[in-house]
Amino acid sequence: MPSKTYKKLVAQCFSDNFRSAIALEELPIPSLNPGEVLIRNKFAGINAGFDTLLCKGNVPYVNLTPPFDLGVEAVGEVVAIAQDVHTLQVGDAVATTVRGGGYREYQAIAANLAVKIRAATPEVLTLMPTGISALVALEQVGEMTSGEVVLVTAAAGGVGHIAVQLAKLAGNHVIGICGSEAKAKLLKSLGCDRIINYRIETLDTVLQQEYPRGINLVFDCIGKQVFDTCVNHLAIRGRLIVVGFISEYMNDLESVNQPRIYQKLFWKSASVRGFLMPHFAEFAEEARDRLLDLYYTNKLKVAVDSTVFNGIESIPDAVEYLLSGQNCGKVVVRF
Ligand SMILES: NC(=O)c1ccc[n+]([C@@H]2O[C@H](COP(=O)([O-])OP(=O)(O)OC[C@H]3O[C@@H](n4cnc5c(N)ncnc54)[C@H](OP(=O)(O)O)[C@@H]3O)[C@@H](O)[C@H]2O)c1
Repeated sequence: MPSKTYKKLVAQCFSDNFRSAIALEELPIPSLNPGEVLIRNKFAGINAGFDTLLCKGNVPYVNLTPPFDLGVEAVGEVVAIAQDVHTLQVGDAVATTVRGGGYREYQAIAANLAVKIRAATPEVLTLMPTGISALVALEQVGEMTSGEVVLVTAAAGGVGHIAVQLAKLAGNHVIGICGSEAKAKLLKSLGCDRIINYRIETLDTVLQQEYPRGINLVFDCIGKQVFDTCVNHLAIRGRLIVVGFISEYMNDLESVNQPRIYQKLFWKSASVRGFLMPHFAEFAEEARDRLLDLYYTNKLKVAVDSTVFNGIESIPDAVEYLLSGQNCGKVVVRF
């Protein structure tokens, strides 16, 4: 007997703490408007950084007032279609990247927002949009070329492990920064040239001793001291991409008192560049197709964290797990 209701996670108020901000809601499965399909989500990606900032009311480009739906990317199966939909069929596997479409068991959305995929697996989920962000950031913002030194922070994480491989595939020397031996092992298997476990080695010392000419391209997800060290070690014409600053998401932003950053950049013609995927939407489709091709031809590996989070009720645990920094690869929840 198919279910008549479904559950979703909403932010019911703003709070510094994700668990205090959220509530579970149970609703009737929606009926479809023209042009829509009903999708049963099978896996959703955990974006704990974004979730935390959204629930704090700290995402300036979205002007949300609680209550609002949570989660973004999901893969699942089409279980019903409106009469006028001819592009998808019941039973098709699809991927979606809609804000509010992830942390829910079912979603009714416009058919043109669902991308048909071969199978609704956590690996494909990781490529769309996590992998897309890595590719677009490196190429469009970082102007990645070949034969350079590329440094990736949180390198064994969801975004990072794809960035490492794309930088290698482009023909670069890749340094991966991580915080455990399990992550170092993953990075070795992905072909990282120099792995720095910051719990064992000091980033600043390694860069000073082994990379005296500096780093050409930095893909930084962490911020704070790691960002400062990376800026200090940029090469002439080096670029640092601010992909995120996860070390500050849970706290108030740290105020620093030091000379303005231009004095560090000017003398090296170096630059620090922000990256936010929604500002590069026009590159997503081509990036997606390329990533899927690399994955299906075994040129790109996708690491999904092995900790199992089952059901919508497990999402707060999954968010806290990612923020604890233990994950190896992408954290997903299965429904
Ligand atoms: N700009 C965009 O459009 C965009 C899109 C997607 C994601 N992002 C950003 O990319 C970054 C990575 O996101 P993700 O979802 O793929 O996460 P993730 O990298 O899978 O997990 C976060 C990792 O960050 C590292 N970390 C270092 N310091 C930390 C701290 N103080 N607290 C928590 N984690 C810390 C941990 O690895 P180690 O201990 O090994 O360093 C942890 O495993 C985030 O900053 C996120 O906001 C940006």
